[in-house]
Formats: sequence, C-alpha cells, structure tokens
Amino acid sequence: MSDWKIIQPFEESHWSAYYRLRYEILRKPWGQGSPDHREPDEKNALHGMILDNHEQALATARIHQIDNTTAQIRFMAVRNDMQGKGLGKAMLHFIESIGRKKIPGLQKIILQSRENAVPFYQHNGYQLVEKSFLLFDNIQHFLMEKKLIKPV
Ligand SMILES: CC(C)(COP(=O)(O)OP(=O)(O)OC[C@H]1O[C@@H](n2cnc3c(N)ncnc32)[C@H](O)[C@@H]1OP(=O)(O)O)[C@@H](O)C(=O)NCCC(=O)NCCS
Repeated sequence: MSDWKIIQPFEESHWSAYYRLRYEILRKPWGQGSPDHREPDEKNALHGMILDNHEQALATARIHQIDNTTAQIRFMAVRNDMQGKGLGKAMLHFIESIGRKKIPGLQKIILQSRENAVPFYQHNGYQLVEKSFLLFDNIQHFLMEKKLIKPV
C-alpha cells in the first residue's frame, strides 16, 4: 500500500500545510516570503498536494489558465528529504491531469523552471523555450512548455 496520497486541498489543515511547504522549499532558503503569503490569483488556480499518512505535506503544485489555450504550472515543490523518489513526477502528472480535465480547450502548458529543475521537466516532456528571469537576484529561470496532444 502506498504511504502517500495525492489530493486537491479542500480543508483548512490541507491549505496551511500546502502553503507552508511551498514557503519552506521555494522561499525560506532565500530569506523570502512567509508561510502566510498568498499570490493574488490563488483562487483562480487549481491546486494539488501529496500528503503522508499523518497528513503532512510532501509535495505541492498549482496550475492556472493564462489564455484560451494555455495554462501555467507554478510552485512545484517536494519536501527536501523526499526528493528523488518519484513524488515530483507524480505531482506533475496529477496537476497536468487536473488541468486537462478542468480547463476547456487546453493545448499547452508552460512553466518557469529553476535551473536545477530543467532536467526534471525535460524528463517529463517539457521543452526548453528560453532563458527567462533571475529570481531573488540568484535563481536563474527558464521558460519551458509542453504541447498537449489534442483528443481525436
Ligand atoms: C524539482 C523537483 C520538483 C523534482 O521532484 P522529485 O521528486 O525530486 O523528482 P522525481 O523523483 O519525481 O523524478 C522524476 C524523474 O525525473 C528525473 N529527474 C529528477 N530530477 C532530475 C535532475 N535534476 N536531472 C535529471 N533527471 C532528473 C528522475 O530521474 C526521474 O526519472 P524516472 O521517471 O525515469 O525515474 C524536486 O526535486 C524539488 O522540489 N526541488 C526543489 C524545489 C524546486 O526546484 N522546484 C521546482 C521549481 S521550478
């Protein structure tokens, strides 16, 4: 039996664990953000997370529509001690499938990858588009995309 599960967060304890993990992995090491921070568009995004048997967050991701055919994945994060065990791949596939189901007309998913994560996304079907921005004067990002196969 699997010792983790993937869900869309729906209750307060999920949401606090979700935002805390995002902060711990993607902001705190650079002295940025806070566990209480919310992006202005969180309500327009679809969110996913992986929980362990004790309801602790192991991974997060979200996807939001940016135009008629395109959506963007943001905030992919796996708890440090759980990286490299397949959770990132499972999280990515889950949030992609939520996007395909709930965003009508979706043809392309884009994301801004940190330099360290580019090979992970390439491994999962994303292509490098261009070098993009530097976050916190330190973390180089790369625009990546995946064109979805249209249903026949
Ligand atoms: C990047 C991240 C989401 C990847 O998740 P993960 O759980 O560590 O990766 P997985 O174990 O699911 O790896 C999935 C596949 O990608 C491959 N992969 C993962 N990282 C890789 C890397 N740096 N280079 C090459 N391949 C890599 C794995 O070998 C695995 O291949 P397989 O499917 O053939 O077994 C995770 O490491 C993380 O949260 N890192 C810190 C935060 C971060 O950088 N987030 C991304 C923000 S854009």
